Amino acid sequence: MTRGYFITFEGGDGSGKSTQIALLRDWLMQAGYDVILTREPGGTRISEKIRELILDPDNQEMADMTEALLYAAARAQLVSQMIKPALAEGKVVICDRFVDSSIAYQAYGRGLGDAVGVINSYAVDGCMPDLTILLRLDPEKGSSRIADREHDRIEQAPDAFHRKVYEGYLALEKTYPERIFGIDASGTIEEIADEIRRRVHTVIGR
Ligand code: TYD
Repeated sequence: MTRGYFITFEGGDGSGKSTQIALLRDWLMQAGYDVILTREPGGTRISEKIRELILDPDNQEMADMTEALLYAAARAQLVSQMIKPALAEGKVVICDRFVDSSIAYQAYGRGLGDAVGVINSYAVDGCMPDLTILLRLDPEKGSSRIADREHDRIEQAPDAFHRKVYEGYLALEKTYPERIFGIDASGTIEEIADEIRRRVHTVIGR
């Protein structure tokens, strides 16, 4: 059975994920891979609708568990409609955020704990990344990088929340060292891109 490769990117807000994702996609495409890029929450018609609901700054009364379930619902749709079929066709799927975001933001940040992993085991349905790139950046630095853009509901959360998210990511990196590759995101764009390519090369093996 052919199976492609599933690569996810993680990191706090302002860690430079989008730039690195675009560079990796271009590099893989030039090497001849069939690459699909997607993002969370979102990536399908239904998941994008859920995204709007979650991130709308007007939805201040949203309960933390509602938030966690909505992220998981958006993920379940993306996995079944998009990620699994693409992997079955042998494609490389790059996803901007995945289940680790829920562990960092909802389990650690919101303090929902183990429930988040349980909910998400149904959402991902066995479809876990082959490699996760974690761009590690101190949350204060991250928030100063995004200071001049409009903030969604999650970005508006207080600094203490973003500090807990960061700690969640560090804990995940420790727990899953074979899957999660952490990189210091304070380096230059080229340095970081180089490190990512080297790691992807060893995983994809070309
Ligand atoms: P995203 O669009 O990736 O924002 P950014 O470009 O700033 O990374 O994600 C939107 C927000 O949703 C982001 O603040 C992180 C948050 N998030 C969660 O809290 N839990 C999740 O499971 C996911 C996927 C994202």
